[in-house]
Amino acid sequence: MNATGAIAAAVVPAAGRGERLGPGAPKALRDLGGVPLLVHAVRALTRSRAVGLVVVAAPADGVAEVVALLDSHGLEGKDIRVVAGGDTRQESVRLGLAAIPAEVGIVLVHDAARPLVPVEVVDAVASAVRAGAEAVVPAVPLADTVKRVEPVRGGPEPVLDTPDRATLRAVQTPQGFRRDTLAEVHAKALAEESAGAGGDLPPVTDDAGLVERFGGRVVVVPGHEEAFKVTRPLDLVLAEAVLARRRAADAY
Ligand code: CTP
Ligand code: MG
Repeated sequence: MNATGAIAAAVVPAAGRGERLGPGAPKALRDLGGVPLLVHAVRALTRSRAVGLVVVAAPADGVAEVVALLDSHGLEGKDIRVVAGGDTRQESVRLGLAAIPAEVGIVLVHDAARPLVPVEVVDAVASAVRAGAEAVVPAVPLADTVKRVEPVRGGPEPVLDTPDRATLRAVQTPQGFRRDTLAEVHAKALAEESAGAGGDLPPVTDDAGLVERFGGRVVVVPGHEEAFKVTRPLDLVLAEAVLARRRAADAY
């Protein structure tokens, strides 16, 4: 299928528990400035003219709740579908992808846990796929120096080496793909899992990682500091501050 000029669909994995955020509702349903994280994330996608359809992978026991939530936050006019997610992020993405009509040639995958991604990042990722890349990730340079260690619970951990920071990027979402590429690597990963293969390899934590594993080519475009992922409680404090700043700016 030719992806050129096509409208993209977005899959939003939102079925995680949010263990690292602490006790409470599933992370995607947690409040940020009076609106659930998931609603922020879906709005960020629907604001992009590149995106024509959003498929949310909700917690399996929360599909009806998520449908109601999206309706009650003014998203009822948009083409949004909700499916039950899976036990892992990878499975949630695969289930979301399966709900996208066959004619859609470009798919973005965006974490519900990145509520404040600017629309410019969504547009830039979609454009790069439209321009011919098979897999595109937005990313930012690292502020911290990174060391590779021999993991020891409780430490001290021996340092193995220090990668050159100039060559490292912290990767965000939405990640963008040719639909056939994304479907193929997810199918291969599932087959590998079912066969019990791939056990010695490090776990793949993003969709672009699957493309890399199976020999595809991934390119990086500039991300944005506000596209950070809400993972721990402090991230929610930062997100509240960013949102308050945006709302204050909009009021003028
Ligand atoms: N996710 C998902 N299905 C899962 C696990 C994760 O759809 N079985 C989604 C999350 O809802 C989130 C995104 O993948 O939007 C990124 O995952 P992460 O930040 O790890 O979220 P959680 O898994 O919810 O958090 P934690 O790992 O702290 O439990
Ligand atoms: Mg997780």
